[in-house]
Amino acid sequence: MRPGLPIGVFDSGVGGLTVLHECLVSLPAEDFLYLGDSGHFPYGTKSADELRERAAAIAAELLGRGVKMLVIACNSATAAAGEEIRALGAQAGVPVVTVVGPEAEIAASISGNGRVGVLATPATVASGAYHRALDALGRPLTVTEVAAPDLAPIIQQGPTFDEEVLNTVRGYCQPLREAGVDTLILGCTHYPLVAPMLQRMLGRDVSLVTAGHAIAAAIQREMAIRGELAEGQAEGDYRFLVTGEVDAFVEVGTRFLQLPLAGRAERVEV
Ligand code: DGL
Repeated sequence: MRPGLPIGVFDSGVGGLTVLHECLVSLPAEDFLYLGDSGHFPYGTKSADELRERAAAIAAELLGRGVKMLVIACNSATAAAGEEIRALGAQAGVPVVTVVGPEAEIAASISGNGRVGVLATPATVASGAYHRALDALGRPLTVTEVAAPDLAPIIQQGPTFDEEVLNTVRGYCQPLREAGVDTLILGCTHYPLVAPMLQRMLGRDVSLVTAGHAIAAAIQREMAIRGELAEGQAEGDYRFLVTGEVDAFVEVGTRFLQLPLAGRAERVEV
């Protein structure tokens, strides 16, 4: 038992805050330590080798500070380095929860016509991680993957809700509409911010699948099995380590987290 230790979460910047948001809502008694690698953003256009290096360094930083679980809240990092980080966690006796698998499971189970879309960064699409995860579920599916090189950067840079973002989203929806997908995996943790735009362009009948709920449920299951789930009425703490500029992270991140972030973030070199 490691009572008192936080759950470590990381992403290339603010995107993973959409996952942390669901965790804070679903697991209010837990403490969280979130590392935003905004000094090395974006991950989505990096090579697999670069991503493995970044992910390993960040995992080592969080494990060194003491966490009871590691959550990779980034599809690009999971796709390139998920297995390596699981191995690092196993060596330290710390479980690792990642994106990709949970969204694939949900998408495969809810799609009516078997046509599933994946909108993700170039790194995630190139890795084939979603294709593998969906294939492994044993249901015949037609998967349409669309790589979006500029979507996460324009969402992160802000303003998130302007004509440029709207037009970019519209362009990426075109092949998804042509393919007739009835389910779309938002394969990047930045994209929940543009979910209303996607829904408007794809139509109400298309189901959008994001990582947040599935990850929060996976954390809860794993912590309960290990007898390490924080319960009770006390509100947990949440703090941030940032490799880039702290003020920018706080300003943009508050939109993603939808909870206060100011006064909880400090800079770190990784
Ligand atoms: N949030 C990251 C992901 O889920 C991508 C953003 C980036 O390009 O760094 O893939």
